[in-house]
Amino acid sequence: MSAQIIDGKKIAEDIRAEVKRDAAAFTAARGFPPGLAFILVGDNPASQSYVRSKGKACAELGFHSVTETMPTDTSEADVLRKIEEFNQDRNIHGILVQLPLPKKINEQNVIQAIDPHKDVDGFHPFNVGQLVIGEETLFPCTPAGIQELLVRSGNDPSGKHVVVVGRSNIVGKPIANILLQKKPGANAVVTIAHTGTKDLTLFTKSADILIAAIGRAKAITREMVREGVVVIDVGINRIEDPSSPKGSRLVGDVDFDSVAPIAKAITPVPGGVGPMTIAMLMKNTLKAAERQEVSRKA
Ligand code: GUN
Repeated sequence: MSAQIIDGKKIAEDIRAEVKRDAAAFTAARGFPPGLAFILVGDNPASQSYVRSKGKACAELGFHSVTETMPTDTSEADVLRKIEEFNQDRNIHGILVQLPLPKKINEQNVIQAIDPHKDVDGFHPFNVGQLVIGEETLFPCTPAGIQELLVRSGNDPSGKHVVVVGRSNIVGKPIANILLQKKPGANAVVTIAHTGTKDLTLFTKSADILIAAIGRAKAITREMVREGVVVIDVGINRIEDPSSPKGSRLVGDVDFDSVAPIAKAITPVPGGVGPMTIAMLMKNTLKAAERQEVSRKA
């Protein structure tokens, strides 16, 4: 048996094409495009690169975008003031503050300053609560992308045992809640394992669908999964590789080479979950724009 390789690049391209089409319809109907504001504090090269890619996606899909770059020593009050400016700006429908923030800025204060209707990351406690109680809302982008990957690749989680390894607010907790919903494309039996789990293999072996969001290269090995498992690898880890021109390469949290031969389906790294995050950010921004404009009219 050879595993189905879940092509996140292709699925993300499909979603981007759908969003581009729907954004064009939005712009034609309203006379202005959906708008997304980025706030980037400091000079973390990875954050700079992510924000550049997101800005590029806006241009490609016909969205208006603004990037506010602030120096590392910016005060929390200045970040909050900028957020309030974007909260009031009718041309801006989504606000994304790139994380992590410099240490002296309180992340929760920043997240909670964003108008929940413009919170396209789905990190505001209002949106987290809406998700947990099963109300329609903006869901965090990476977890929403994982659900799309499962459904669009023909691996519907309904009735399946999903084991999530990792309990972060960005991936582990929201994906567990998304797949727990009593809705089509969800309705799974969900277990969350984490650093406090004593016998991790006991749990990972019982997974129909394993979602690895651990942050450690190749942490999930062949012995830890059962034959026929569907694997979603959220990890992005750079490891040394003398045979590569760069001297390093990206690998996931799953040991792809040993797990793929016994899996039913598996996402590659790169080209699996990664491309989905920006696609879902664009989908969320369009959704936020549509909802704000409908409520303004009403
Ligand atoms: N940093 C890493 N992932 C994310 C994300 O999904 N959103 C934001 N705002 N920052 C991040």
